[in-house]
Amino acid sequence: MPPSVVRIGLLGCGVVGQGFLTLLGQRERLIRESVGAPLKLARVAVRNPGKSRGVDLSGAHVESDPLSVAKAEDVDLLVELCGGESMLEPVRLALRRGVPVVTANKSLLALHGDELERIAAESKTTIRYEASAGGGIPVLQALEHGLRTETCNLLVAILNGTTNFILSTMERDGRDFAEALQAAKALGFAEADPTLDLSGQDTAQKLAILVRRAFRTDVALASIPTEGIIGMELEDLRQADRFGYTVKLLGVAIRHPEGLDVRVHPAFIPKRYLLASVRDEFNGIYLRGEATGSMLFYGKGAGALPTAQAVLGDVMVTAREVVAGVKLLGSPPNHKPETRVPLDRIRTKYYLKLLVEDRPGVLAQVAACLGSANVSVAQMFQAEGVRGEASITILTHQAVDRDVREAVKGIAKLGAIRKTPRAVRIFDL
Ligand SMILES: NC(=O)c1ccc[n+]([C@@H]2O[C@H](COP(=O)([O-])OP(=O)(O)OC[C@H]3O[C@@H](n4cnc5c(N)ncnc54)[C@H](OP(=O)(O)O)[C@@H]3O)[C@@H](O)[C@H]2O)c1
Repeated sequence: MPPSVVRIGLLGCGVVGQGFLTLLGQRERLIRESVGAPLKLARVAVRNPGKSRGVDLSGAHVESDPLSVAKAEDVDLLVELCGGESMLEPVRLALRRGVPVVTANKSLLALHGDELERIAAESKTTIRYEASAGGGIPVLQALEHGLRTETCNLLVAILNGTTNFILSTMERDGRDFAEALQAAKALGFAEADPTLDLSGQDTAQKLAILVRRAFRTDVALASIPTEGIIGMELEDLRQADRFGYTVKLLGVAIRHPEGLDVRVHPAFIPKRYLLASVRDEFNGIYLRGEATGSMLFYGKGAGALPTAQAVLGDVMVTAREVVAGVKLLGSPPNHKPETRVPLDRIRTKYYLKLLVEDRPGVLAQVAACLGSANVSVAQMFQAEGVRGEASITILTHQAVDRDVREAVKGIAKLGAIRKTPRAVRIFDL
């Protein structure tokens, strides 16, 4: 007998949890018709059960222990919206019991996704996590369904709304990094402690999740070379503009014949790229499939309702499976290890910015450092500054990444250098 109701156990009722319950209420009829049974909120776990919330929890059993919800007999589907690694045990427990899980938890999936998918497959159930990468953009469902048999060899993505907002604000309004960060905080696009976003770690977590699904391989989070946008100056963005580029924090995954190249770093990208138009708090994921060719997924990567809509999409598919008593399309782990191309060996162009003492011979010393590291110059400009200083902007030709960084180390040691050189990769395929 198919169940007449699908009982939800909800972990967390904060920003996304409340958004989810709002949509559940607003779309009740549509959900019931699509799933074939109504969804009922049976249990909720929150840190503070006594706190009043903007949603109606009457009718549900509200408690503080996520494990107790994960093992409750009256829960058919666990929705985890607490966040953080402490949710590993409740999620593991539910999956081992054969209870499907929907989660938005990027750190959990980036660190333990392989294990959790394995447990789900062994227990003949599912774990879905659309909202964990790209927020409201249904890219994982596209990969799970329409693109399930597609072979993707290139993924370039803007996955962090905070850093994208900061870079867009600097570029558009001519504000410096600190001012743009303040504006992001004032508008709720940056948290009080934005370290995870600015350091690139948030992007790396989401990239690890996307690569697992798009490339069907497991990439350890710790193995992803990650650089954030701290230290990016307004002058770098102005120079990017001058040469026809815009600056973005990118998550990159490319399958080369010699292995997989996965990395996170800020980059100059040509303004003609579709990703260059992904501005402010928006996210964009560019994928290239063997059969499909180029695809761009664009939308809001965070926020209560966009994220909740992604959660609801997963909940609908999963609830339909619960009602039908079958797993429609699970995502069995298929994680053959792949050879990785270390960052040191990739070939890329670079933008270099130097502040030097304005005297004869300095340019020749800089050129010698680059030349001895096999880095050739595509364009070079020198502008006279104040206090006997000059600023030098260099765009290199394609070079081996390690060689450029060695050259920059050499340049930094020159007596005429007045400030640590800036070096930003140019992503121009
Ligand atoms: N916010 C976004 O735009 C967004 C976008 C994409 C993905 N996500 C992901 O969605 C998840 C939820 O994010 P959020 O922004 O909704 O977080 P949030 O507003 O901080 O809410 C977290 C909720 O979880 C509860 N909670 C936390 N730890 C708990 C514990 N140990 N035991 C019981 N309850 C616990 C909290 O209870 P109290 O309310 O009692 O404190 C709160 O209700 C995270 O994984 C996040 O990465 C969020």
